[in-house]
Amino acid sequence: MSSFLICMNFKGKDIISIKDFSKKEIDYILDKAKGMIPYAKGEKYKDVLSGKVLSSLFFEPSTRTRLSFESSMNRLGGRVIGFSDPSGTSQKKGESLADTIRMADSYSDAIVVRHPHEGAARLAAEFADVPVLNAGDGAGRHPTQCLLDLFTILTEKKKIKDNKIVLLGDLKYGRTVHSLAHALSLYGVELTFVSPASLKMPNEVINDCKELGVEPSYTSNLEKAIRDADVLYVTRIQKERFPDAEEYNRVVGTYKINNELLKNGKKDLIIMHPLPRVTEIDPEVDATPNAIYFKQAFNGVPVRMALLNLVIGGKL
Ligand code: CP
Repeated sequence: MSSFLICMNFKGKDIISIKDFSKKEIDYILDKAKGMIPYAKGEKYKDVLSGKVLSSLFFEPSTRTRLSFESSMNRLGGRVIGFSDPSGTSQKKGESLADTIRMADSYSDAIVVRHPHEGAARLAAEFADVPVLNAGDGAGRHPTQCLLDLFTILTEKKKIKDNKIVLLGDLKYGRTVHSLAHALSLYGVELTFVSPASLKMPNEVINDCKELGVEPSYTSNLEKAIRDADVLYVTRIQKERFPDAEEYNRVVGTYKINNELLKNGKKDLIIMHPLPRVTEIDPEVDATPNAIYFKQAFNGVPVRMALLNLVIGGKL
């Protein structure tokens, strides 16, 4: 795909929602990510972001997003400042998000922000001149996760379009599936949503898919849904987003992926999960060739390397 893609300029661009990007732009980023794999693995090194500083501001817990962004910056020769726990910052003294962002803007060349409130990353971008990358805002969006999910489907299945894709689990609060449903619809896939009745995909996302020409199917019968699926994308029930613990207790454990269930699926079905998982995938599945969620998590590095290189303006 690379030789046909016209060079695009992303320098200074915010990465807030996947909806801000055209399919051509997404293809361009995915192509750049492919070229980053040897750098992400440490097989090659070029300090194209030497002298550049990334602010890594995590107002909410994270393992993969924070570490892969920080690894990406380090592997390109740049440096990282920031925090993984806002309790050690002046937010504790009442500082606003806007003022924290103003500071990070003056100390660095790009800002990665994760925040519990939907819309926080968009707000942050209004107060920063340097590019802001949304690392997840509440139950809203997670665009860099979406790009690494697309990258994983592309590398595993050699194409995104025409795949039969099942999105399973907490489709109401799971921000990764909101971004992914939109992006997959740009490519023309078959989408099936499987969730407990109280955790259905929001209408806004469903309408968005329809506007892009994809009519999703819905079922609560997972066994049936995976029968001819190419991709099963599993999500955790997002306990931290439930206003009521009772409601969470009613749905937790509704679906569990195990080797018995996989007998109903195609041999080359791939199982994805943005992680962390809790109980929704039995560890026995890890050893099957279908399980690619750890590879998917690694893909966060080449994808985020590509993004940082593009928005900060490195030359790789
Ligand atoms: N996929 C994901 O966002 O993981 P973390 O919450 O660990 O960053």
